[in-house]
Amino acid sequence: MLSRVDVDLGARSYPVLSGTGCLPQLGATLRTHGLAHTNAFVLTNSVVAALYFSVVERSLAEVGFERVVLHEIPATEEGKNWDVFSETCAALLHHFPDAGASPLVILLGGGVVGDLGGFAAAVYRRGVPFVQVPTTLLAAVDSSVGGKVAVNFGGVKNIMGAFSQPRLVLCDLATLSTLPARELRSGTAEVIKYGAVCCGTMFSDLEAGLLEKLLAQEPAALVDVVTRCVRLKAAVVERDEFDKLGIRNVLNFGHTIGHALELSAEYALTHGEAIAIGMVAATRLALRLGLCDVTFSARLEALLKRAGLPLSYPGHPELFEPMARALQLDKKFQRGKNVFVLPLAPGSWRQVEDVPWTLVHEIMRSVIE
Ligand SMILES: NC(=O)c1ccc[n+]([C@@H]2O[C@H](COP(=O)([O-])OP(=O)(O)OC[C@H]3O[C@@H](n4cnc5c(N)ncnc54)[C@H](O)[C@@H]3O)[C@@H](O)[C@H]2O)c1
Ligand SMILES: [Zn+2]
Repeated sequence: MLSRVDVDLGARSYPVLSGTGCLPQLGATLRTHGLAHTNAFVLTNSVVAALYFSVVERSLAEVGFERVVLHEIPATEEGKNWDVFSETCAALLHHFPDAGASPLVILLGGGVVGDLGGFAAAVYRRGVPFVQVPTTLLAAVDSSVGGKVAVNFGGVKNIMGAFSQPRLVLCDLATLSTLPARELRSGTAEVIKYGAVCCGTMFSDLEAGLLEKLLAQEPAALVDVVTRCVRLKAAVVERDEFDKLGIRNVLNFGHTIGHALELSAEYALTHGEAIAIGMVAATRLALRLGLCDVTFSARLEALLKRAGLPLSYPGHPELFEPMARALQLDKKFQRGKNVFVLPLAPGSWRQVEDVPWTLVHEIMRSVIE
């Protein structure tokens, strides 16, 4: 049984399907949802390919795919760059030079594969259809849904990209069983983010033990959490698909200082770890501005700790300058004015502009010194 959430975007609507053990049915699922291609370009990395490519290949062959090209990119965030993007576009052109034989692009992996591959699919021939097949918790609950595709460039996260929705998302939660524990914990950072600013019930359910069930990969808990997170994300994306109304900014909770840290630490921290620290920093800002109370910040920190996520990155004062520089390039900032997504109480948030820089810098130092 697959759990289904529909992302309702008119002509660009698509289903997000998740379940345990559904990867062997990928081909059949594509056909059920009207994707009649016979060529596929499967983008993944060597780790994920070794584990799951043969299953994907078999399921595609079973439904009549004739040509399935495997293309691997580096297995780290450092590989989410313009050169690898360009190589991926070159591979698409090399393997599928004929406009009449355009492939279905299948993105098998975590957020790096999904973001970079989605961007390549968005611009190749001004857009070819793609599907997301997330294999990390983070990709399942967040990056595979919503159509933001991008690569890092010039020292800025996700600065070159596009909005391009997948045709379908199929997540086999059984693939998470091979995920390194650190990556699973990293994914819980985004889950906690949804609870903290989008859904107070989710926050208290996590506190009441759902978090541990998720970390233990109890199948029912996995499906429950992924379905709820996707529903929350879909609701935000449906109201602000192109990030024009400020509604989608909620998903950036923890990502302002978090992204600056992720880049400055040169990827010593995973995305989720940097975001966990970013959420702690944003909550300290909210506390100092009188927007949330100490109970909320204590509850958030306790939950992050239980997830095995860091609350700070101590002993790295040298990161202050690069972080401050990276922060200036944040995509939300306009005309030098900073913008922060700050929590008020579980499930609610506010966007605050022009926070005094002295306070921002003090809080930044507090998480790296
Ligand atoms: N587009 C969006 O809306 C959005 C939202 C959130 C995050 N992101 C992006 O997502 C990226 C982070 O994604 P991520 O956390 O999935 O990291 P990732 O894609 O780097 O994957 C993490 C690691 O797990 C390995 N892996 C993946 N699946 C596996 C499996 N099933 N078994 C064993 N190993 C496996 C990968 O090889 C990789 O080394 C960041 O670049 C972030 O900016 C994008
Ligand atoms: Zn994120």
